[in-house]
Amino acid sequence: MPGVTRFGVSLERDLLNRFDRHIGRKGYPNRSEAIRDLIRDSLVREQWEKGADEAVGTITLVYNHDTRELAGRLTDLQHAHYGSILSTLHIHLDARHCLEVLVLRGNTADLKTFADRLIGTRGVKHGTFSATAAGDILP
Ligand code: NI
Repeated sequence: MPGVTRFGVSLERDLLNRFDRHIGRKGYPNRSEAIRDLIRDSLVREQWEKGADEAVGTITLVYNHDTRELAGRLTDLQHAHYGSILSTLHIHLDARHCLEVLVLRGNTADLKTFADRLIGTRGVKHGTFSATAAGDILP
């Protein structure tokens, strides 16, 4: 492969055995692919820790829309951060529950604050935030 460098890694046999079992369970075809993913994940974490301006992430929320004033509060929060929202998806899970997914782009600190506010809103039953990165920082 052009542009690819091979390098050796020394580590304890027991650690390597555990790593091989771990990546086997995850379905990686080989160690190289697993190590590439670990490196990319580390680069994304660093971007979030150092506070980059062009980060990407998603928020997933599950809530009961019958909870008093909840839907209005969530909408108000989203309008207050409209510049960070690329897209939203709303699924009616059953007669009462809603699943909402927001795709965000912006400054890491702003996105984290926004996610914390939404997930922490009283009445949200479950919320997750997934921090990722635009593709250009991931060689
Ligand atoms: Ni709904």
